[in-house]
Amino acid sequence: MTPDELPVSVQFLQLITAKWVVKPMYVAAKLKLADHIKSGVTDVASLAEKTGTKADMLYRLLRALSSVGIFHEGEGQNFTLTPLAECLLDEPGSPRDMLLFVNDPVHDRAWDHLHYCLETGNVGFEKAHGAGIFDYCKTDLDFSEVFNRAMSSNGQAVHSATASVLDISSVDTLYDIGGGHGHLIKFLMDKAPSLKGGVFDLPHVVAGAEDAKYPELKIMAGSFFEDIPKGADAHILSFIIHDWDDESAVKILQNCYQALPAGGHLFICDAIINEPNAPNLGKLLDIEMIVMTTGKERTVDEFKTLIEASGFAFEGIVDTPGPHSVICGRK
Ligand SMILES: C[S@@+](CC[C@H](N)C(=O)[O-])C[C@H]1O[C@@H](n2cnc3c(N)ncnc32)[C@H](O)[C@@H]1O
Repeated sequence: MTPDELPVSVQFLQLITAKWVVKPMYVAAKLKLADHIKSGVTDVASLAEKTGTKADMLYRLLRALSSVGIFHEGEGQNFTLTPLAECLLDEPGSPRDMLLFVNDPVHDRAWDHLHYCLETGNVGFEKAHGAGIFDYCKTDLDFSEVFNRAMSSNGQAVHSATASVLDISSVDTLYDIGGGHGHLIKFLMDKAPSLKGGVFDLPHVVAGAEDAKYPELKIMAGSFFEDIPKGADAHILSFIIHDWDDESAVKILQNCYQALPAGGHLFICDAIINEPNAPNLGKLLDIEMIVMTTGKERTVDEFKTLIEASGFAFEGIVDTPGPHSVICGRK
């Protein structure tokens, strides 16, 4: 029976109990259960000792997760990894980091205000924490680390998808604006070894982009609302424009326009809203934008309007194998 063939009441129950799966996954990730199992600690008693948990409780958590294909229970309450459990491993670029971000208590408290967002048009994160997410991150460095690791962990699903389709053969110097720890630009420098790369982000974020493997990477700190450094003939903005309302988005793009030479390339990586009823992760990410930011996911026409309002010519859209497209502009 495929998921669509299940009785509607069962489909509904599966949807509304998603938390019964994702919260145990979150705790499993926090406890590094997958890492312990991979290292050979497979029985519940030893796992409980390693993680400071009660064996009977831990067994129930592992049993539940094994019922949905995360871990496999063998003889004598011993557990092994499944491909999904491998996604819980604490390794660079692991999707575990996104799980930890979207289930962090700081994130949850913002989501508690979704109804308030719909009533007022205000941002849930600000209601919960008294500041926008990027200002909040300046003071809560633990959450900032969780956020930045989550963005970097988009590597396999998102950044490599961008790198696989983006034609940068005519680009000499590319700056990743709001590039976090520089994950995307590092992918692109791997793809095109002659590319000169730079990453620009807020000071407390961009410090994390230092990487002995990329000594040539130019690391620049500042705010894209103030001044973006000159020196590149192309800018890439990956999951930046969706964080902001139209007025702020145009301000960022105008600052890109100021910094680029005539003929300079603009690459915006974001989800694109498609026709009604069509499945699209971007339509769900858009709710995250409602709760966490002043931004939104946009249609092609909405991107075209922003790009042209900032002075650029709209050049078209390149689809990626990921959940997003590249929207191209030219100065
Ligand atoms: C959603 S994350 C995207 C990160 C990265 N581009 C990616 O694709 O994974 C948004 C980024 O914008 C940065 N940012 C927010 N406000 C900024 C500002 N005023 N100036 C520069 N960067 C900013 C954040 O620090 C964060 O790294």
